[in-house]
Amino acid sequence: MSEQPMPAWLDSQPQLSLDRLLPTLRERYASHDPAGWPIFECRLRTNFRRLFELLLHLYGGRYDFFYHLESILSTAARLWLARPVDLKALDEAREAAPAWFQGQKMLGGVCYVDLFAGNLAGLRARLPYFKELGLTYLHLMPLFKAPMPENDGGYAVSSYREVNPALGSMPDLADLADLAGELLRQGISLVVDFVFNHTSDEHAWARLALAGEAEHQDYYYMFPDRQMPDAYEKNLREIFPEVRRGSSTYRPEVDRWVWTTFHSYQWDLNYANPAVFDSMLEEMLALANVGVEVLRLDAVAFIWKQLGTTCENLPEAHMLIQAFNALARLAAPALLFKSEAIVHPDEVARYISAYECQLSYNPLLMALLWESLATREVCLLRHSMQERFKMNPACAWVNYVRCHDDIGWTFDDADAAHLGMNGYDHRRFLNAFYTGRFAGSFARGLPFQKNPQTGDERISGTAASLAGLEKALREEEGPFEVELAVRRILLIHSVILSIGGIPLLYLGDEVGTLNDTTYRHDPAKLADSRWVHRLFADWTRIARRNDPSALEGHIYGALQRMITIRKECGAFAGNDTTVIDTGNGHVFGYLRRHGADQTLAFANFSEHEQSVAANNVRTHGLAYVYDDLVTDRAVSLEHDLVLEPYGFLWLVASAHG
Ligand code: GLC
Ligand code: GLC
Repeated sequence: MSEQPMPAWLDSQPQLSLDRLLPTLRERYASHDPAGWPIFECRLRTNFRRLFELLLHLYGGRYDFFYHLESILSTAARLWLARPVDLKALDEAREAAPAWFQGQKMLGGVCYVDLFAGNLAGLRARLPYFKELGLTYLHLMPLFKAPMPENDGGYAVSSYREVNPALGSMPDLADLADLAGELLRQGISLVVDFVFNHTSDEHAWARLALAGEAEHQDYYYMFPDRQMPDAYEKNLREIFPEVRRGSSTYRPEVDRWVWTTFHSYQWDLNYANPAVFDSMLEEMLALANVGVEVLRLDAVAFIWKQLGTTCENLPEAHMLIQAFNALARLAAPALLFKSEAIVHPDEVARYISAYECQLSYNPLLMALLWESLATREVCLLRHSMQERFKMNPACAWVNYVRCHDDIGWTFDDADAAHLGMNGYDHRRFLNAFYTGRFAGSFARGLPFQKNPQTGDERISGTAASLAGLEKALREEEGPFEVELAVRRILLIHSVILSIGGIPLLYLGDEVGTLNDTTYRHDPAKLADSRWVHRLFADWTRIARRNDPSALEGHIYGALQRMITIRKECGAFAGNDTTVIDTGNGHVFGYLRRHGADQTLAFANFSEHEQSVAANNVRTHGLAYVYDDLVTDRAVSLEHDLVLEPYGFLWLVASAHG
């Protein structure tokens, strides 16, 4: 956290404050669980200094700092007391094996409850499907109470304690807790979003603010006129410029401007107010107590604002997350954070640490897999991964090819310049390519949020449509083009399944789901092209997954095979990855190591056969004769390696070599 050490006079303060706080906490809470209390106290002692320094930095300037400190610790103690016994047992298990999420058996899946299975009960009925796929991590897209009909796909939360009535009906998240318990028994960790940068304008706090209540107006950023919004907005990036310009919204009820980074109904929370931090801590721990094991921290970049800055990725944003993390270590140690920072790769990396977010989306890998498919060249992918894949060994990437959001080209311009590419032009090319405007493009994506001033644009579309399957099937291109598209889909999945971290499948992709433009008939969705890839699960198509003669079966079967191999291959655990120069600009290669296990992976991003000189493999050499795990064939370095069009190899030293 804070780079500067504490001044000497402050050095004794954490201990002194703890000594002052402990008697009150003990008096209030210890008797409710006398056997467990020493464990809580021990965790408090271990984490207190860190927590104290963070909160002091964030809120120490306030006359009522100590009041808030005590209140925050009381919240943690109260919610720890309320934590169900089985989750307390899980806490201890996770504390004893903190690297559990780095195993090669980990496999994530993400879906919308309503689109995938109607409601929570329906989702539960689909558990056998998740087991069949091999999922150990299930991210359910936002499922909380939200405004209707527009709620940014659930990312405008009106209550963190109520499931959207269309999905479940029991009070206090009881049906979610039941589901979490069932998932845990089946070896699947439940992941949900913690949408903590903003609430919807229908949240109880926002309603009170709209009713003119000063205490809750201070939960948000509300301004009496345009002076401050104008001053801030000079430096702000617009996230949804097609929907609305600027970053604030006028509310006539109170004659005030409210800070709204995303949509007008998504009100940014004011974390400069410690009461907001405390209130959101309570919401966070309540979710943990339902049995949620991983919270996907939504829009982390935006949670702290400071005039004269872009209000993204500020040091205090990190401190806030670290403080939430420290409090989770006290009250719900099994809880992990995954950061959703779709920003410059340098900034993405800063959220990753055992003390901040143990997991992070890997938006750079995602974007560059698509970049390599478009260009058939792997130089930017290779260079960027050589520089940026390495991460804290206690943490893990979450590697994905598609998610519910758009694709933004978040590579570093200097990385591109190093290879003689102009970042701005290259992004323009990629946008033209993935919207099918570029001559010869195989992709059928849609543009998302074009900003007329900056020229910035992002891409929507399912993996299959972006990889060429839509064009091949709907524009009658024949079996050869279909085969190439399928190979592209499998190729990029082969990378996320082997490169190091938790692979995350966007459910629907496993059977090659294509874009669906019918969202345009719904006025609440019309302006947001991301709905083209947020689709109802088509269970008739999924039913064909085991028919190898069907397209669905072809894709599903091949993915299933890779998943099985991944789970059995020890080298795919952890994140020790060395990206290598294969000597062929179309072939991406990396060496995976874990303990004594090693695997060499190669991926050909061109539609032509490619070879890698045997010498280039020998230098990273593990052996002379290899087995390719994917095809079960022996590969000898007597000859150069040969990769089929869009082919890939996972090589392990042959037991017979
Ligand atoms: C995140 C979500 C995105 C949403 C935004 C605002 O980026 O992934 O879907 O629009 O946050 O909550
Ligand atoms: C921007 C934000 C990201 C969000 C996305 C939604 O890229 O940085 O957090 O997911 O917009 O489209």
